[in-house]
Amino acid sequence: MCGIIGIISNQDTVSRLLSGLKSLEYRGYDSAGIAVINDRHIHLRRTVGKIDALVETVGAHPLSGSIGIGHSRWATHGGSTIQNAHPHITDQVAIVHNGIIENHRNIRLSLEKKGTSFSSETDSEVIVHLVTGYLNQGLDPEQAAFKTFEQLEGAYAVAVIFRDFDDLMICSRKGSPLTLGLGKAEMFIGSDALSLSPFTHDLVYLEEGDIAVLKRDSYKIYDQNKVLVERPVTKSQISGEGVSKGKYPHFMLKEIYEQPDVIRRIIQKYVKGGVPCVGLDIDWAAVDQVTFVACGTSFYAAQIAQNWFEGVAKMSTRVEVASEFRYRQPPLSNRGVTIVISQSGETADTLAALRYAKSEGQTVIALVNVVESTIARESDYVVPISAGPEIGVASTKAFTAQLLILIFICFDILRSKKKDFPDFAHILKALKVLPLAFEKLLLDRKLLQQISQKLAGNKSIIFLGRGAMFGVALEGALKLKELSYLHAEGAPSGELKHGPIALVDEHTPIIYLMPDDVLVEKNKSNLEEVMARKGQVYLIGGASASIYREKVVHFFEMPDLDAFCAPLLYTLPMQLIAYETALIEGSDVDQPRNLAKSVTVE
Ligand code: M6R
Repeated sequence: MCGIIGIISNQDTVSRLLSGLKSLEYRGYDSAGIAVINDRHIHLRRTVGKIDALVETVGAHPLSGSIGIGHSRWATHGGSTIQNAHPHITDQVAIVHNGIIENHRNIRLSLEKKGTSFSSETDSEVIVHLVTGYLNQGLDPEQAAFKTFEQLEGAYAVAVIFRDFDDLMICSRKGSPLTLGLGKAEMFIGSDALSLSPFTHDLVYLEEGDIAVLKRDSYKIYDQNKVLVERPVTKSQISGEGVSKGKYPHFMLKEIYEQPDVIRRIIQKYVKGGVPCVGLDIDWAAVDQVTFVACGTSFYAAQIAQNWFEGVAKMSTRVEVASEFRYRQPPLSNRGVTIVISQSGETADTLAALRYAKSEGQTVIALVNVVESTIARESDYVVPISAGPEIGVASTKAFTAQLLILIFICFDILRSKKKDFPDFAHILKALKVLPLAFEKLLLDRKLLQQISQKLAGNKSIIFLGRGAMFGVALEGALKLKELSYLHAEGAPSGELKHGPIALVDEHTPIIYLMPDDVLVEKNKSNLEEVMARKGQVYLIGGASASIYREKVVHFFEMPDLDAFCAPLLYTLPMQLIAYETALIEGSDVDQPRNLAKSVTVE
């Protein structure tokens, strides 16, 4: 959350700061700003809203400078106002910050007592005043920055520039990511490798507590003990070309349509000689439990996979929301494996959960899309989900890719445990036809639009499913609420009569997922209960559900597919319904309000 970019160069930095911010916009889009130093003055432009608004302001009020910092904000402390936008400046110093300074109130109070006046409600502003105060006490910039960082508690990635030093930038990271980019007589910093990819491929990933002192043609890094250290220079594989929407009006729609190719690519990558194999050097037979930790959509992927790991691979499995797990700190056996799932690889809670699992002696596997991410770097094993860049804030193709890889890991476990699984060939056959099934289903988009027409404007929508389909129902509800801002909740169909059924009446839309699986008869009974209370049912199901065709508001028939692979295919109507409903509701599909693609604060 929040994106940071910084450049020291011999040339003007403004257009590159803006383009860097554009690629960091997925991290937050409440406000944005840049500050550059020119002629011993700090020049500042800030706007509320997206980077385009900042570009417009800079066009109307140009500025230039060979050293500058930029920020794209996801608001934590203080609303989306110009005053709260970064960079924060004094007459001598400008800073940008990503994270949360937890002791900001105390620092602020003590600075205010000494006469400092604040112009924003942010936690971040204390940083600029601390540095300025130390400069005024006669400390040099390095000492002033070091002394400031010492006082900060919480999570941060910070960059500081100084009015009187146009060849100096000091940055530090603790809990939030920050990467250095090494150019030719130029230095860069960015919250991720993608933002730096148009400028350089030589990257240095800062480690926890590192402080970097940058000049145009040199840099030094101190570790958390203030000892000068060398960090490896990594060649980034990320292409500098921006990812475009192509022929699609939104990234989300493009990413939904990319799914057949993503599935093909993953099968090609991980299925060798007809046998799926993720190739982890793990003796699964010796593993006593798998613990999944993740957030949001990635958590639902884990929840679905639990059905496979337990039901098929007979592996004891627990699924944990990372933000709860990290503070509950359950005991974990050192024979266990923790699988962290994260599209971005930067989610703060998931990262903290990973670190806890490692401290308990667990082997940690990361399923990430962004392989050059902190979670990937800190895990024992990395399995790239290979979905390609996902830009839309709502996760779509990454979810499908996560599910597919999790199926493959399930087969790895079966093989390693030398367990026979008679349906193996059948499932493999189903996986092979999956891309085609996705393509066919995408042709039915118009039918799903009809469902969205009816859902739009409703107060609350319930998604129901059983077994692995419960996870799909949860994902469907999350997609709908985050995109269209309609209240939606997912529940296990069998749990209906323990509470949620109280919500059912002739005004309640219910999306009911009913594949032809072993639970179909149970599902039928639950569906009858809903219909007896006049619930407005939108049934998404297989051939056996078709007996309800005339009785429900809408029946959407799904292609016949092996039940094991059904969660992947049933996710597609969930995504399209959410997309179409959001369009009707008029919300910003790719950047829905209050959200960010990468959640780097807890
Ligand atoms: O990058 P991650 O997979 O760790 O992100 C986890 C969640 O923040 C993410 O899935 C979020 O729920 C999405 N907005 C869902 O569409």
